[in-house]
Amino acid sequence: MLHVENLYKKYDTVLALDGLNMEINKGELYGFVGPNGAGKTTTIRIIAGLLSATKGEVWIDGERVEKNTKVLKSKIGYVPDFFGVYENLTVMEYLEFYASAYGIYGKDGSMRASEVLDQVELANMEARFVDELSRGMQQRLCLARALIHRPMLLVMDEPASGLDPGARRIFKNVLRNLCMDGYTVLISSHILSELADMCSNVGIINQGKMILQGEMEEIMLSIDSSNPVVITVYNQMDLAIELLKSHPLVSRISIDKNVISIIFGGSKEEEALLIRRMVDAGVMITSFTREHNSLESVFFHLIDPERGNSYADESCT
Ligand SMILES: Nc1ncnc2c1ncn2[C@@H]1O[C@H](COP(=O)(O)OP(=O)(O)O)[C@@H](O)[C@H]1O
Ligand SMILES: [Mg+2]
Repeated sequence: MLHVENLYKKYDTVLALDGLNMEINKGELYGFVGPNGAGKTTTIRIIAGLLSATKGEVWIDGERVEKNTKVLKSKIGYVPDFFGVYENLTVMEYLEFYASAYGIYGKDGSMRASEVLDQVELANMEARFVDELSRGMQQRLCLARALIHRPMLLVMDEPASGLDPGARRIFKNVLRNLCMDGYTVLISSHILSELADMCSNVGIINQGKMILQGEMEEIMLSIDSSNPVVITVYNQMDLAIELLKSHPLVSRISIDKNVISIIFGGSKEEEALLIRRMVDAGVMITSFTREHNSLESVFFHLIDPERGNSYADESCT
């Protein structure tokens, strides 16, 4: 559905995108995550046809973006990272205005407005003033506006930031339903945990490059295997340390009283074998657990391995 190849963007002296690649398939809810300044907004604006790339290609539904902006705009719904001020405008007037911008007038416009309000769980809000809606509702109204012309791909720039848990839950629900209806959604955030339970896929961008991309669940699992294993030993501490030091899959050991933290590059089965080996040698173990890093430390580890490691060290002492 969306194919981004070797994208570069230079603003005067700043290289904002440095050979970015991205692949999104139909029906995916794709989380585009990276720290502030990583190049998310730049990428999204190029995809939406609002900004031209210095180099590289963007393809949507088999068509190249910059070459056919008009057709492409009909395929894309763009939700920007800001929401304007709309004094004395009702929700219905607001949406009818955007419908008319796409050539949908009169009764057709109001019918289409009602449909998109339904899709974003804002039915019965037609007569409310836009400026009086809560932030979560305004965000969904923005989404309704982006849906008005029935695009196939929705691109949203940091829409979930600053939403309270209730508004977030509704937002997540709305996006999931849209994907089930066949829409493809790209949503950006600088906070991985904001998207982890929402998205089917994830791409992590840092300094204008895609550093990791894939299914959210798989990526979370693969990251887990680099987390420390924490072993609490009841007796024979010296023997336990000796055994661990000689184990080929143990790369780092830190000790705190009777608790040993190791970086262990093995599978679940190898974990079980290690426990057996220690117990057979006479070490009594009271617990053996793989730590699950917080999402944000995972994120820091990806974008900055040095900092990520020290973060992991802190969490296991
Ligand atoms: N109009 C601009 N002029 C110059 N530099 C810009 C402009 N817009 C963005 N940048 C720079 O490009 C980089 C990427 O910015 P941006 O795409 O906004 O990142 P993000 O959305 O991930 O925070 C940053 O270093 C930013 O300062
Ligand atoms: Mg941004």
